[in-house]
Amino acid sequence: MADLTVKQFNMINPFVVASSPATQGAENVLKSARIRPGAIVLRNFGHGAGGGSYIGGDPNAIYQGRPAVHSHAVGTPIDDGIASLEQYCEHVLRIKKQMDSDIKLWVSVGHYNDIPQGGDWQAQWVRQARELTLAGADALELHFNTPGVAALGGRNFDYEQLVYHCTKMIRGVTHLPVMVKLAVEGCDPIRAIERATDAGASAVGPTARWKAFTFDLNWRETQARPGGGYGGTQATPIVCQVIAEARRLGIATPMFAGGGVFGYENAARILMAGSQMVQLGAVMCSGGVGMGQRIIADLNRFMDENGYADMDALCGDALKLYNMSAEITRERTENVGRAYRQAQPDPEKCIGCGRCADVCWHGALDMQDKKAHKTDACIGCGYCFQVCPTGALCADVKTALAEPFVKRGL
Ligand SMILES: Cc1cc2nc3c(=O)[nH]c(=O)nc-3n(C[C@H](O)[C@H](O)[C@H](O)COP(=O)(O)O)c2cc1C
Ligand code: SF4
Ligand code: SF4
Repeated sequence: MADLTVKQFNMINPFVVASSPATQGAENVLKSARIRPGAIVLRNFGHGAGGGSYIGGDPNAIYQGRPAVHSHAVGTPIDDGIASLEQYCEHVLRIKKQMDSDIKLWVSVGHYNDIPQGGDWQAQWVRQARELTLAGADALELHFNTPGVAALGGRNFDYEQLVYHCTKMIRGVTHLPVMVKLAVEGCDPIRAIERATDAGASAVGPTARWKAFTFDLNWRETQARPGGGYGGTQATPIVCQVIAEARRLGIATPMFAGGGVFGYENAARILMAGSQMVQLGAVMCSGGVGMGQRIIADLNRFMDENGYADMDALCGDALKLYNMSAEITRERTENVGRAYRQAQPDPEKCIGCGRCADVCWHGALDMQDKKAHKTDACIGCGYCFQVCPTGALCADVKTALAEPFVKRGL
């Protein structure tokens, strides 16, 4: 079994059940604890418990890691049942008493809606941080991830300045780790990571979710509404780009990035791009405890099967790809082109459908006697290999791509 512990934060694994209906109040936190994640974030109080999760299009696609629509914040908004900071602290105490002691409890401090509403929100946030520290939270989380926070920033305040100011303010009143959740939309995410780091954040959580207008063509009859919280599996490559870019720039701040994790593959991608931890958000809401358990077990199996002994080995492994030299890029391009150019259609498997000739823009495929023949005009672009329905066009591209890394011991 691979060692999934995140030593820096003394966590049993890198999974953080993120703030959502699955972490609203002690009851739901304890239910989420059944998956035995590294940490759970108790959702903020006093702002309602609304927010369901709508999965559009093909509901199975999202769980298979294929691109799919996911929009949260649907359903009837209801009260969250926690009226005061004192009650919120009672939930913390109850969770700490009943939850396995090796699962960390991060507690959400403040809410961005406090800011445009005015009043002495800074004093409230400081008081929350002090009381939650005393109540036994293992870490405090500040959330600046909601796309609305960044979008609102342009109108009401400077987003990066807000992140810096609030992080520094909370850092100054607690000895606990301060986890700062950040948007990747409506702001410069790298700059926001740098500012949170400057202010003393213990970790940052770039989180890919957007404001969006998504709808089915028969929109009258289906759910989803324009606005915040659009995610889905397509979020992961975008958050991976932010993580990898930050690492390339030498920013070493630990991360708990999130967005689009509906199976172990996207969790692994976020970790391999250089994040130490990974959020489980909508998947816990719409997939439940069983789905969370499966993702953790699947990551473990993936690591065993691929020789990743621990999180140090897995974390950032794909940065070798992100940062590959121009020389490796050239070798890979040439290798793949050569593999495609050299492979000939297998006459035994060719059924003469002509799809390959249809996508060849170099006139390199002749159809003779209902069989495809590749000529010297082939440049090795690979289009025809993608459309061949029988495997008559087949090339060992995997070896061609891996070779430049393998020969350098990467
Ligand atoms: C229904 C729902 C409600 C959410 N509510 C909050 C919230 O109150 N505060 C917050 O910081 N993030 C909230 N989030 C965002 C998650 O904590 C998490 O960062 C995000 O869902 C990760 O992306 P993913 O859903 O694609 O995994 C919510 C997400 C969902 C799906
Ligand atoms: S690899 Fe590209 S150029 Fe070569 S035959 Fe196929 S489609 Fe044509
Ligand atoms: S697409 Fe495949 S099966 Fe169809 S003609 Fe081309 S090589 Fe033959």
